[in-house]
Amino acid sequence: MSVPAPFRLGILGSGKGSNFVAIADALAAGQIPAAVALVVSDVPDAGILAAAQARGFPARHIPPGRFRTKLDEEAEASFLAALQEAQVDLVVLAGFMRILKGDFLRHFEGRVVNIHPSLLPSFPGLAAWKQALDYGVKVTGCTVHLVDQGIDTGPILAQRAVPVRDDDTPATLHERIQVAERELYPAVIGALARGELRVRGRGAAGFQG
Ligand code: GRF
Repeated sequence: MSVPAPFRLGILGSGKGSNFVAIADALAAGQIPAAVALVVSDVPDAGILAAAQARGFPARHIPPGRFRTKLDEEAEASFLAALQEAQVDLVVLAGFMRILKGDFLRHFEGRVVNIHPSLLPSFPGLAAWKQALDYGVKVTGCTVHLVDQGIDTGPILAQRAVPVRDDDTPATLHERIQVAERELYPAVIGALARGELRVRGRGAAGFQG
């Protein structure tokens, strides 16, 4: 009798890795039936790599190539090869600051998730918490979505609202959004790993976080 293979996560990040840590804690607590197959960063000294190594997960730096906001063709091929070799089922972007394109998204179509610090489609792009504050909205939040060829445009899987307070600074608002992210992202990944969340086109997903 064969034991079903675990659902394998490939996690990409460029920063301190607080979302990764929340996911790793949820895995350790048995809340996500999955295994971390590989953690990859485009930044050699990113906190996410140290956090992964400290937990005993395979972790690698792969140089991003010659562009600032995306991987060059060769780098994208290296990222894809590493994740394929690790037999990844789901690619989890956890603060990965480069746009993914072409072959990478074709190979992992519908299997790349991201968390964005606003209620999309409001405030895509960089520093979304600052965009929300500058605009003057009273509620913002975070969004887990599938990654497509656009920037923060893929089908939405789940959202969590966060109030904006009158005395918020970009830092206090960002911190409040990150608290919500650290709850929502592991819950959505758990639902995906359990096969509870099936995505067939925009708007077809159902998840109560
Ligand atoms: C998060 O705020 C997330 O919304 C954005 O990048 C940030 C990553 O933070 N995509 P961390 O590296 O997980 O701490």
